Amino acid sequence: MKNIIIINGPNLNLLGKREPGIYGKVSFDDFLKSLRESNSNINIDYYQSNIEGEIIDKLHEVGFSYSGIIINAAAYTHTSVGIADAISAIESPVIEVHISNVHKREEFRHKSLISKVVRGVICGFGLKSYEMAVHAFITSE
Ligand code: DQA
Repeated sequence: MKNIIIINGPNLNLLGKREPGIYGKVSFDDFLKSLRESNSNINIDYYQSNIEGEIIDKLHEVGFSYSGIIINAAAYTHTSVGIADAISAIESPVIEVHISNVHKREEFRHKSLISKVVRGVICGFGLKSYEMAVHAFITSE
């Protein structure tokens, strides 16, 4: 059985309430419930933190045993050398996801420090971006 973890960064605990015009009206808990139901053949763990160092610690903890990591580092995407270095340091494949199409938004969101150290990037499909990342792990070796 594949063991996948979704790691969400700062402010993503407010999904459903936070800027619904950009991020939608569905809470991550509700989304995760249906994602798990429709992928019952794999284990999908979930971790969210607003703290950069905690995200790095989680990457270290799961990064040598999980079959896939899906990370939405949120605002840290654009600033965190520490998260990029942690992804480089671990062995599990990582997919970067974003709910919004960051390239359509403010210029500071166009640059990701982590894109160059991940397997691939999915962005702009709402919460479906996570579903697509799960699908990518299921269908790849
Ligand atoms: C985000 C995009 C980031 O620029 C932003 O800081 C977020 C969410 C997204 O999923 O669209 O918090 O990662």
